[in-house]
Amino acid sequence: MNIILLGPPGAGKGTQARLLVEDRGMTQLSTGDMLREAKDSGTEMGKRVAEVMARGELVTDEIVIGLIRERLLDTSHTGGFIFDGFPRTLAQADALGALLDNMNQTLDCVIEMQVDDEALVARITARSTCGDCGEVYNDQTKPWPADGKCGNCGSTNQTRRADDNEESLKTRLLAYYKQTSPLIGYYYAKGDLKTVNGLGSVEAVAGEIKDALG
Ligand code: AP5
Repeated sequence: MNIILLGPPGAGKGTQARLLVEDRGMTQLSTGDMLREAKDSGTEMGKRVAEVMARGELVTDEIVIGLIRERLLDTSHTGGFIFDGFPRTLAQADALGALLDNMNQTLDCVIEMQVDDEALVARITARSTCGDCGEVYNDQTKPWPADGKCGNCGSTNQTRRADDNEESLKTRLLAYYKQTSPLIGYYYAKGDLKTVNGLGSVEAVAGEIKDALG
């Protein structure tokens, strides 16, 4: 089963993708994570995308589609793929369809996660991540453990993203509404779209996604 998690910044895509990886043995393909890896590795492309990401704008389709193509060809797909944060434009959606066709694969479901803007701001500004294993925390709902060690891997490397501030978030939200939200209609028309209420607890949202996937 190959699925897309579609939603604005802070909707909980990464959090739910990690649960699907644990529960169903699926493979998470997050273009945000791939771009942050490129940035940290200091490659020429990483340097080019760093400023764009910090401002909260979208990286070019060419770069992102290239990353996904490379990863799809490199990764075994036994448990299926979760596309997290990809596609984000109509051009990316068309490219994904063509890539899957070439692999004789199908897209089985697109889960739209709906969360209102006020909750998104609260979630994003309170987020931290383990720099080693990627576990996601939240100062309000899932605080970094008091002993200073990640509850998943024991690392002390708590990190906050450069684009997790109110200014960048405004640009990220605008990019979502202008460039990404047309995908809701695109996948609805194809009959692939399911919608979940992303405002519930992490467990409640996971339950809704499970029902949507059947
Ligand atoms: P990316 O890394 O994809 O970021 P995003 O889409 O903005 O999404 P986030 O990772 O911020 O949020 P999320 O939905 O995963 O929420 P999370 O689970 O962490 O992209 C970053 C940048 O890279 C983009 O701005 C762009 O520049 C570039 N980029 C990436 N992909 C691209 C593409 N395809 N094309 C072009 N450019 C691209 O949760 C957030 C917080 O809420 C956490 O603290 C979590 O603990 C908490 N939380 C989660 N669920 C719940 C819940 N149910 N209740 C309460 N709290 C919750």
